[in-house]
Amino acid sequence: MHSGNGESHAKIILIGEHSVVYGQPAIALPLSKVKTKVHIKDSSNGPRILHSRYFDGELKNSPTSLSGIKHLINYILEAHSMMNSSFIMTITSDLPAERGMGSSAATAIAVVRALYTYFGWHLTHSKLLQLANIAEKDIHGNPSGLDAATSASSQPVWMIKNKELFTLPINLNACLLICDSGIRGRTGEAVSSVKKRLESDPEATQALINKLGELAFAARQQIANDDPSGLGKTFNIAQSQLAALGVSNKQLDDLIKTSLAFGALGSKLTGGGRGGCFISLVRNQKSAKEIARQLRKKGVTETWIQPLGNDPEEE
Ligand code: MEV
Repeated sequence: MHSGNGESHAKIILIGEHSVVYGQPAIALPLSKVKTKVHIKDSSNGPRILHSRYFDGELKNSPTSLSGIKHLINYILEAHSMMNSSFIMTITSDLPAERGMGSSAATAIAVVRALYTYFGWHLTHSKLLQLANIAEKDIHGNPSGLDAATSASSQPVWMIKNKELFTLPINLNACLLICDSGIRGRTGEAVSSVKKRLESDPEATQALINKLGELAFAARQQIANDDPSGLGKTFNIAQSQLAALGVSNKQLDDLIKTSLAFGALGSKLTGGGRGGCFISLVRNQKSAKEIARQLRKKGVTETWIQPLGNDPEEE
């Protein structure tokens, strides 16, 4: 029996969410231990079947939350004149949905990889990103492409929409604590609120976007200089700009304050905002574990620690 597999992982935006949609730079890194996997196997002449945490049944009956993926699968099959093919696709994922970790982009990347492997088609990296963004467009109309690019990369990336995309090695004497606020993030809503704000108050909104762009350049320099304290400050300034842009919320603000009170060098929301995850830059894993412990008492539901270089206290 023939089958196809595809894999991808979560992404964490270090800096540049929202402003990246408007042509400013962003830095994001893959969280390779948090994975999405897609497996496809033959089914004899039946309908196309999807198994996932949200839905089990015929792909054509899948709910609107999966409409981007259904659209993507149909688009690929149509482009290859394979609309009559039948198969069983199973999507499994460790990524929490709607938490700013790029679960939709990770699913799209894994689905494209699995379909191309299953049918034995050749897939270039740029084709992979272009296809994944078909599903991303269904979510918020105007994706920057950063989520898909990071989900498909094994290295941190630097991106300016439609202009620059390259890997940016990060070797910083610090680590990143990623915290799930436990509140559903609302990327689509947050992206359209920034768009509306830009239309109704162009000058002030553009200034915030430009400032976020400057902070991304500053962050790149601080990474190059191995300057965790500087990068922590940049996180804090970015968080205040994102809050002014209207994409944070009270719970995130409070949790971020707690992380700073317990010694984080800097903290900010990550991804679309209005809930979801936030990130804290911390000196080492020991401190990350202690801050995580304190944050869990305040409602954080899950934490991940990602070393950014050589951590002498790493276990
Ligand atoms: C969402 O993870 C990141 C945003 O910048 C949207 C995008 O880049 O398409 C908010």
